[in-house]
Amino acid sequence: MKNWILVLLIGQSALLSGVAQAANVARGQQLYNMHCAACHGPRGEGVMPEAPKFRMGERLDQPDMVLMQSVRTGKKAMPPFFGVLQDAQILDVLAYVRTLR
Ligand code: HEC
Repeated sequence: MKNWILVLLIGQSALLSGVAQAANVARGQQLYNMHCAACHGPRGEGVMPEAPKFRMGERLDQPDMVLMQSVRTGKKAMPPFFGVLQDAQILDVLAYVRTLR
C-alpha cells in the first residue's frame, strides 16, 4: 500500500514538472518576441549585426547563470533588463532561446 502511494506521488510530480517546463518555454517565447527579437531576430537569426545568432548556437555554450547576468546588466549594445524582467522570466526566455538552436 505504501509503495503504491509512493509510485503515485512520483508519477504525479514528474507530470507536473513536465507541464511547468513546457509552460516556461511558452512564456519565454512571448517575452522573447516582446523584448529580444528586435535585435536577436524572431528565429534567433540575429537582426542587429553585433547581436549573437542564437540559431547558430552563438554564446549558448555558456551556462544560464552567466547568460542571465549579461541580460540583467546589459552588454555593449544590449540594454539592461534588470527591473524590466524578473530572474524567473529571464530563465524562461533563455529556455526558449535554447530551443532556437
Ligand atoms: C538593442 C538590441 C538588443 C536587445 C533588445 C537584446 N539584446 Fe541581447 N545582445 C545584444 C548584443 C549587441 C549582444 C552582444 C553583446 C556583446 O558584444 O558581448 C547581446 C548579447 C546577448 C547574450 C549573450 C551574452 C553573453 O554574455 O555572451 C544573450 C544571452 C542575450 N543577448 C540575450 C538577450 C535577451 C534574452 C534579450 C531580451 C530579454 C535580449 N538579449 C535583448 C543586443 C540586444
